[in-house]
Amino acid sequence: MEGYYHLLYPMRVVLISASDGKSDNVMTAAWCMPLSFDPPMFGVAISKKRFTWQLIEKSRAFAINLVSAEMKGQAIICGTKSGKDTDKFKLAGLKKEKGKLTVIVGDAPASIECKVVESVEAGDHVLFVGEAVSVVERRKAKGLYHFGGSTFSEI
Ligand SMILES: Cc1cc2nc3c(=O)[nH]c(=O)nc-3n(C[C@H](O)[C@H](O)[C@H](O)COP(=O)(O)O)c2cc1C
Repeated sequence: MEGYYHLLYPMRVVLISASDGKSDNVMTAAWCMPLSFDPPMFGVAISKKRFTWQLIEKSRAFAINLVSAEMKGQAIICGTKSGKDTDKFKLAGLKKEKGKLTVIVGDAPASIECKVVESVEAGDHVLFVGEAVSVVERRKAKGLYHFGGSTFSEI
């Protein structure tokens, strides 16, 4: 059954930002989706191996930051390095902004901050279910989509 998740691809790329008050971090994710109109809710599947998982577990908050095509290089950095030992905002040259609940990415076309209302163990990932508490829309931009491996395209 390995690799069948690729049947659902391409998937939109986002940057998930989170903080525990000491460390601020940003990680690339493709397994992210809307869950409810009212209240507005979103889900993201994050492996327990990620530093981001630790930060969300502690703070019960995360932000979904949209990624545009020109942010592809930054998405690759944030999706291949861990914030355990690196400040990825600095490394990727991303603008860190203070949101209502957590840190957000100022370069993103839009940022959605969510408070975690539930977390569901799903095999080797945890599905964080978040209710949106604040949304910033900065500009219109095409999204960056992941087709698997090192293939990306804007749509
Ligand atoms: C395009 C792309 C999509 C990714 N999607 C996810 C995802 O949805 N969930 C996840 O746990 N990891 C995903 N990853 C892997 C993490 O971004 C990667 O392991 C990252 O280094 C974790 O950073 P952290 O340790 O600072 O949290 C993705 C990586 C890439 C390049």
